[in-house]
Amino acid sequence: MKIGFAKPGQPSSGAVIVGVWEEATLTPAARRLDEATGGAIMHTLSAAPRFKGKKNELLPILGAADAGRIVLAGLGKPELANAQLFQHLGGNLVAHLNSAGESEATVAIDVGEGAPIDEAEAAAQLAFGARLRAYRFDKYKTKQKPEEKASLDRLTVTTAAPSAAERAYEPLDKTASAVFFTRDLVSEPANVIYPETLAAEAATLTDLGARVEILDENQLRNLGMNALLGVAQGSVRPPRLVIMEWHGSPDTAGDNRGRPLAFIGKGVTFDTGGISIKPAAGMGDMKWDMAGSAVVIGVMQLLAARKAKVNAVGVVGLVENMPSGTAQRPGDIVTSMSGQTIEVLNTDAEGRLVLADALWYCQDRYKPRLMVDLATLTGAVVVALGHHRAGLFSNDDELANQLIAAGKAVDEEVWRLPLDESYDREIDSDAADMKNIGSGRAAGSIIGAQFLQRFVNDVPWAHLDIAGMAWSSKDTATVPKGATAFGVRLLDRFVAKHYEKG
Ligand code: BES
Ligand code: MN
Ligand code: ZN
Repeated sequence: MKIGFAKPGQPSSGAVIVGVWEEATLTPAARRLDEATGGAIMHTLSAAPRFKGKKNELLPILGAADAGRIVLAGLGKPELANAQLFQHLGGNLVAHLNSAGESEATVAIDVGEGAPIDEAEAAAQLAFGARLRAYRFDKYKTKQKPEEKASLDRLTVTTAAPSAAERAYEPLDKTASAVFFTRDLVSEPANVIYPETLAAEAATLTDLGARVEILDENQLRNLGMNALLGVAQGSVRPPRLVIMEWHGSPDTAGDNRGRPLAFIGKGVTFDTGGISIKPAAGMGDMKWDMAGSAVVIGVMQLLAARKAKVNAVGVVGLVENMPSGTAQRPGDIVTSMSGQTIEVLNTDAEGRLVLADALWYCQDRYKPRLMVDLATLTGAVVVALGHHRAGLFSNDDELANQLIAAGKAVDEEVWRLPLDESYDREIDSDAADMKNIGSGRAAGSIIGAQFLQRFVNDVPWAHLDIAGMAWSSKDTATVPKGATAFGVRLLDRFVAKHYEKG
């Protein structure tokens, strides 16, 4: 789908979309179209009393003289029309027009009096939402019928300020590309994306000026990463640790002396559970167990692509968790890179073992200002928060609050859950420094986070448990079902808002 901006009034073909504010008040563009069609809009509104012009409402009008399809788009209250409203509108329109089989469309943007957004920005946000929703992962579908393919080829957004809209869209377009990179990586099956191939994808960031290092099994052994290696040892696919550095901050003299922000991702390219094997039903979902790493790779790609004025490092631990004659056994004790020993009582609690070494390595090598890890860590977080919010855990209130606010701003919400000593005690082991599970099923996500906290060495740190958010079985306005890339936009916003030197 091509997206463009133009001044109103150019000849256009295909569908025309105009806005209606709450109480069915026509925007100027809707009023002009009503006149041009001999009152077709007012006529339709009087026959459709349930359409009130609320946000997310769409009302198609067919058969108006001379015109093609017209769609009325509810905008809600003009003074509340923000970036999110226009993103959602863009996304909803793409879905609507595709299901109608439309190939071209023009949307007229009107921003009302007192709106918290200017017209060019609103146009750009609409285009952004449209692009995000138009994502498809259909490369393995060889027999799609024409009606199963996206019909919408061209979306034009008209605004009095098309070149300002174009400029506002440029960074959003880069964001969408990074989101798509992540969604592609998460969507690929585990026979295609495994530690070596995922590392190769991360290595493409060098094209954008990032530094990428890939550590192989021998290097990991020399570093003492036995927690990570223990997970990998059942698989014929060797593990990798990938380190991505982006040096964008001009400021190396300040308080932080250029110390980077650090993002760490769980990259279990397939999680069978290992010897503590998972049930067959739904196991295929575990190809998505590398989503945390794909989000970190996507964020680093975006920071490099938009030349963010920040220093950042991404570290992803890539392994496949398989049962085999060489697999780790329940009860095995491993010595992590930190020197702390871990009794592995359940080989399906593997993400924390991978992250234990990745987190320790990261703080040891980089002395980062802060660390944020992302992981599809526990089924328990889905029980607690469902598919609406990711779990947030942190040893730092300011960091936690920044992440909560960033999540709200970009529609990727997180909810903080507690950490404290009483939970921490539950992973004390009789045989080693700790065990990788608690004693029962209670507080599973918190226990997982407590385990990670033992490897952050008091660096300001936050853990996002994205098990319920990494993929979706339902379409939302800007995220079609499938891999969501949840976290890419959140972290980009977090960096841009608090850590970039202008
Ligand atoms: N990758 C899973 C967590 C998961 C479950 C993600 C469902 C997405 C959907 C993780 O490695 C795992 O298996 N966790 C166990 C931990 C338990 C053994 C303490 C779990 O949640 O059951
Ligand atoms: Mn597991
Ligand atoms: Zn897992």
